[in-house]
Amino acid sequence: MPGKFVVFEGGEGVGKSTQSRLLAEAMRARGLEVVTTREPGGTPGAEAIRAMLLDKDGLAKDGLGWGARAEALLFAAARADHVERLIRPALARGAWVVCDRYLDSSRAYQGGGSGLEDADILTLHRIGSAGLLPDCTVLLTLDPAEAARRVEKRDAGALDRIGGRAADYHARVAAAFRRFAEAEPERFAVIAANGAPEAVHVRVLAAVDSLCA
Ligand code: TMP
Repeated sequence: MPGKFVVFEGGEGVGKSTQSRLLAEAMRARGLEVVTTREPGGTPGAEAIRAMLLDKDGLAKDGLGWGARAEALLFAAARADHVERLIRPALARGAWVVCDRYLDSSRAYQGGGSGLEDADILTLHRIGSAGLLPDCTVLLTLDPAEAARRVEKRDAGALDRIGGRAADYHARVAAAFRRFAEAEPERFAVIAANGAPEAVHVRVLAAVDSLCA
């Protein structure tokens, strides 16, 4: 039986990587094989693209950073490698894949944030990854001020090229994520990410159990 593909989505500082880890531990305790991974990245090729995309001291410092279209193509290229080399093989052998960000981040950031058409981003995904979608997408939501406090604590002001964009960009990203979740309730669980990680984990587990059953 193929495994399940679970993705965590949301803005910066909402706790996606902590919740990915806690969910993977819970699934392993049930005897399942679980692969945890992230985007952009997850394979050597995709990690190389990640370094180019998020480097804020390279080209971006001199005002020569990627435009929105080049950025969308690079995210799609990284995803293509990740899907082909890691995600599809893991699912095919029956493992669960728990991934920190995926396609909906491209739709929210390069689409909602940077203004590209959603249909174009979906076309890139069809070309790059044959349109593979998660079985279940957990959207973590948090008050922006609390998320900013968590990011400050975690990164001490060292935000990457995209994380460091203006508040109105991140507000458009958050609004786009909410729209996607409303449009596809059978694929999305929207989970409040306030409170202790263990409390959020209990909500996540209940949602994944009902969406991925
Ligand atoms: P991370 O900091 O959560 O690892 O994500 C890296 C940054 O890349 C984050 O600011 C979100 C952004 N991003 C996109 O803009 N588009 C995408 O498709 C993905 C996967 C991430």
